[in-house]
Amino acid sequence: MSAAAPRSIWSSRPAFILVTVGSAVGLGNIWRFSYMAGAQGGSAFVLVYLSCVALVGLPLLMAEILIGRRGRGNPISAMLKVAEENGASSWWGLLGWFGAVGALLILSYYSVVAGWIVDYLAQSVSGAAIVTARDAAQGFDALLENPSKLIFWHTVFLALTVGVVARGVISGIERASMLMLPALFGILLFLVLWGAVMGDMRAAWHFMFDFKPQQLTGQVVLSAMGHAFFSLSLGMGAIMTYGSYLNKQSSIAHNSLWIAFADTLVGLLAGLAIFSLTFAHGLEASSGPGLIFQTLPLVFTHMPGGRIIGTLFFLLVLFAAWTSAISLLEPFVAWATERLGMRRALAACGAGFAVWLLGVAVCLSFNVWRDWRIFDLNLFNQLDFLTNRIIMPLSGLAIALFAGFVMARENVRDEIRLPAAQFRLWLWTLRYVTILAIVLVFVYRLMNPES
Ligand code: TRP
Repeated sequence: MSAAAPRSIWSSRPAFILVTVGSAVGLGNIWRFSYMAGAQGGSAFVLVYLSCVALVGLPLLMAEILIGRRGRGNPISAMLKVAEENGASSWWGLLGWFGAVGALLILSYYSVVAGWIVDYLAQSVSGAAIVTARDAAQGFDALLENPSKLIFWHTVFLALTVGVVARGVISGIERASMLMLPALFGILLFLVLWGAVMGDMRAAWHFMFDFKPQQLTGQVVLSAMGHAFFSLSLGMGAIMTYGSYLNKQSSIAHNSLWIAFADTLVGLLAGLAIFSLTFAHGLEASSGPGLIFQTLPLVFTHMPGGRIIGTLFFLLVLFAAWTSAISLLEPFVAWATERLGMRRALAACGAGFAVWLLGVAVCLSFNVWRDWRIFDLNLFNQLDFLTNRIIMPLSGLAIALFAGFVMARENVRDEIRLPAAQFRLWLWTLRYVTILAIVLVFVYRLMNPES
């Protein structure tokens, strides 16, 4: 590596936790979690998801942070450095590439969905009324049919993301998260209280937490596990990059516990808020990906104060998506600045432009190019499939193998400074439970694309 300026270090432990929670909490927690739980019968999905966070998510989260901090670099150089330190092949550097490029691929469609959120936010602010379920469905379909609108909002959202990353690790990423995350939690708590007062919280609670064993199918288990992965931002080098800015004294285990806890809490609270309002209006929770775009706007229109609540809700989702998008751009930008010596602002704009181009193609895949399909998937779904079902599990698996079997134990111990018994428990879980679970999900979901 070049003798560049010293690397940034997060200003404090809470800063690291907030920034990483910002990466983890995203569209996944609100958009995906609610519709998946809604479509898969609620509680069965939620309970399996909670176990997956503990058994698969948490151990892997720790592994990813540990490699980042050990390697003190972007995912590519961090992997190379740690591989070298442990006498392993430099092929492991490819894993960093996988993550950094995969993160840009995710960002290209993530930004398009986040663009829908900005559109709905603008509609809520302007008080656009959605009177019937038909209007709601047509409004969403009309958005997808409108390439210029999709591209416009995608551009706006991506510009926001590039703007933050360009400003730097501390004055950009950390500062943005320190502002947005507390606001996000504040809005979320308010919405849950609102749901308790104005909605049917009891029904929402039963829906999410009453265990109904007959709903516990293999399909639910596997999709809950896949979601635990996505929700914690694992396997894409994002967490590794954030870990590389973590100071040596901070406890990886404790930080990870907080991160996993906060990420899960946001999903659960958002679910309670969304379902209590949905049920109070006699609507179904099982409508699929359109849940927050079709069902909820209808609820907001028919609710006293709905305009304000709708605005707050979409602002919440925007903050969540924005802080995640930042962490999807950062691994590659860190690489370009550290390895190529590029100026950060230039690197952010360059990577942003590439993502923007692909995102434009994603916008067109809903309308003009909808007939261009592979395995009957449009580009949007192809990218989702490639990143979520192939890159994420494979690189998660590689990270677990690397930290679990390849790294010398004393190096791992030097980072994960837990008491011996807890350390062994973590390592054992990572080696045998996490790895097995990832392999299972990977194979099953590849063979059953519709799961
Ligand atoms: N965790 C994010 C969410 O819940 C999305 C995401 C998936 C992500 N993989 C990532 C974010 C990697 C950053 C890095 O919406």
